[in-house]
Amino acid sequence: MSGPNTSFDPKQVASLDAAAIDAMVADAVAAVAAAGDLDALKAVRLAHAGDRSPIALANREIGALPPAAKAEAGKRVGQARAAVKAALDERQAVLEAERDARVLVEESVDVTLPTDWQPVGARHPLTTLMERVGDVFVAMGYEIAEGPEVEAEWANFDALNIGPDHPARTMQDTFFVAAPDSGVVLRTHTSPVQIRSMLDRPLPIYVIAPGRVYRTDELDATHTPVFHQIEGLAVDRDITMGDLRGTLDHFAAAMFGEGIRTRMRPSYFPFTEPSAEVDLQCFVCRGESVGNPDRPCRTCGSEGWIEWGGCGMVNPRVLVAVGIDPTQYRGFAFGMGVERTLMFRNGVADMHDIVEGDARFSLAFGVEA
Ligand code: PHE
Repeated sequence: MSGPNTSFDPKQVASLDAAAIDAMVADAVAAVAAAGDLDALKAVRLAHAGDRSPIALANREIGALPPAAKAEAGKRVGQARAAVKAALDERQAVLEAERDARVLVEESVDVTLPTDWQPVGARHPLTTLMERVGDVFVAMGYEIAEGPEVEAEWANFDALNIGPDHPARTMQDTFFVAAPDSGVVLRTHTSPVQIRSMLDRPLPIYVIAPGRVYRTDELDATHTPVFHQIEGLAVDRDITMGDLRGTLDHFAAAMFGEGIRTRMRPSYFPFTEPSAEVDLQCFVCRGESVGNPDRPCRTCGSEGWIEWGGCGMVNPRVLVAVGIDPTQYRGFAFGMGVERTLMFRNGVADMHDIVEGDARFSLAFGVEA
């Protein structure tokens, strides 16, 4: 029998006889044994030892007994309650121990499981490439020079002999950060650093200036409106085009491997005279794809040469603009595209990979400090 005893008769107090109490204890002990977990045991405790359990109700009946019978009934009920409590406590201890053991197994950490791996970042290959170029030139005695990206129109154009009517000065090519007559532009090349270097530094001058430049190009596989150049400038008493040539050959060898050839094609820049485009011998086919349809080269389009940048002897008008006597000093200058260099050097086919900033792209170049 379990559950509250609703049918007792205080006159008979039948529930206080020994058999009835023993049956309550037996019921309780059986229910305790059947409780499979701590929640079930809690329910059993309420039903068999709670305020409305049969034994608790029987206990209340003691008061209705004749005094002579009270002691014995009290003792019997007391023993019954103790027996039920002991059974409950014992089961409780067993179930708690089982739960603790299970939690230990279920909540153990499997140190062999793969974790959520957070990749470390990597420095951008453009950055490390520019640093490497800087090292090549510092080893030859050059200094690293810098200039602002928001540049005076005068340094970006006028001082470089790029006249007011030059097509490069239109809004088609140049980002203006304020009204076009503000005199301020986002620099379209690193050549204004030539101007700043010649204004700031004592002669002779040997500087290399890597940096970010801006032109109003759309982003596509080979163009980006924000890109990088490396400017070189040497101003000394007896500088010749031969010095320029030798310097570029050394630069090319440091970038693309010993023995790589360069070639100069006549060209025009307002700030150099004479001016030339610098081409690199294709470092993949070394020119062997030219006129050889069996061995086409994707890197140079079977041209044998790759356009690398511009160069020339510093135009005397530029020297005059910065107050250097062109009868005493001469200079050479060059400007190379860093993205182009990275694309050729490392076989990057699409500019998007360079600008998008996915660490997986940069990581492929290795993590450099
Ligand atoms: N500034 C030129 C350009 O952006 C490159 C250049 C630099 C040419 C120095 C000659 C000398 O195209």
